[in-house]
Amino acid sequence: MSTGPGQEGLPAPHVLVVLGATGDLARRKLFPALFRLWLLDLLPEKFHLVCSARAAPENRDVFLTMVHSAVEVYRGAIDEAGWRRFAERISFVPTSDDDGADLESAISDATKELGGDVHCVYYLAIPPSATESVVRMLGKFDITDSAKIVLEKPFGTDLESARRLNATLREFFDEERIYRIDHFLGKEAVQNILALRFANGLFQPVWNQQHICYVQIDVPEEIDIQGRADFMESTGTFRDMISTHLFQLLGFVALAPPSRLDAWSLRHEMVKIFRALRPPDPKRVVFGQYEGYREEAGVDESSGVETFVAMEVYVDDWCWIGVPFYLRTGKALAAARRTITIGFREPPLKVFPGDVDDTCNELVLELTDDPKIFADVRAKVPGPTFELGRGRMRLALLEAFPEAEPLEAYERLLLDVMRGDPTLFISTEQVELLWQLFDPLLDEPPPLQHYPRGSWGPREALQLPGERGWRLPDS
Ligand code: BG6
Repeated sequence: MSTGPGQEGLPAPHVLVVLGATGDLARRKLFPALFRLWLLDLLPEKFHLVCSARAAPENRDVFLTMVHSAVEVYRGAIDEAGWRRFAERISFVPTSDDDGADLESAISDATKELGGDVHCVYYLAIPPSATESVVRMLGKFDITDSAKIVLEKPFGTDLESARRLNATLREFFDEERIYRIDHFLGKEAVQNILALRFANGLFQPVWNQQHICYVQIDVPEEIDIQGRADFMESTGTFRDMISTHLFQLLGFVALAPPSRLDAWSLRHEMVKIFRALRPPDPKRVVFGQYEGYREEAGVDESSGVETFVAMEVYVDDWCWIGVPFYLRTGKALAAARRTITIGFREPPLKVFPGDVDDTCNELVLELTDDPKIFADVRAKVPGPTFELGRGRMRLALLEAFPEAEPLEAYERLLLDVMRGDPTLFISTEQVELLWQLFDPLLDEPPPLQHYPRGSWGPREALQLPGERGWRLPDS
């Protein structure tokens, strides 16, 4: 496997094949990301983008107009000269599940045009129901022996379907050529968790149950389902957000120091954490649905799908035994945040007079696109007494490194795929371990609670972390 994240240098020559190229993901994320990589000179000199979809536009020009406007909408004003050079490298070919002949010859043409000896990546930006048949179609292509494949979540909907999908993948692709994306791991702020923990002697010695008494991983979203009724009805928030993004965050917070920063070491440590997870107690899990969800277009009027989940999780290993991890996410909530709060134990003896709020003993990671880290501490209020007050130490990443060129999550992850670096991707073992853990809960989910739009979710969820409550909202 690779040498780890942050490798320098351009990727080798590549043909990147995007399947589902007229879909939402391709338009919102993939094309804007590829175009920016192109502008930043991070794509290989020899690069060709073969785009394919079942809903075929009339011709290549119509397709390019769609891509151009997607990049403009989701990325902002376009450098037209750069666009024209980028567009020259794009071809479009309609396809269907079972007949990939046109696609295979488009890939072969692109390969020849680049002078042969190129790497090939298949990016599956398609609905999950189509994944297995598309994998089988690709499996018949000559180039598949050396190609990499990129998949989007959900990676199955339970253990059985995940195993079936993994078995299909492994018929055609070795583990190191399978890239399962969790775009949260592509976020600068999330990778910075590793830097904070493993590059500073300040934190590593105290990162355990002896010094930490709770962790909150809180990802409320203000948006509702925004027209994605089909997706939400078939997936639900647990499978969309919890079993994926929030458990990956939990893994990054909890994993033991890896001996190297490479895919093997990181995956090994993540797997150890996932193996140590205690099966969730359904009484400590809250499923919610926002009021009005059932009236959304395309939603079943008696839908029992959860748009909100809060839960308590324990990692039963030597490092984390007894420390509750509180996870919360949902749609149509009061605010949009991605906040991890690490609560430290109180000093054994109280020698200062007066009481100060106990949230002054926390490390707060704001995982926004403008990442910030705060240490909320008690400090002496200047003056003639030993009165304590609340103080805040602050690191704002973009201010600290004003010259840096941050990459958006998909930019980083696409680049890593082309560099052949699977460090920030999810392994087969991780996927199966998590489903094994979640299957019983999803077979018998807790009763659904309704919550008003714009609130912090059902009342039961507010009470989950006990008296201290959730760190958010921070008044
Ligand atoms: C996606 C989910 O993976 O992540 C969406 O499908 C969610 O439901 C989104 O809104 C959140 O990601 P971000 O990067 O916008 O916070």
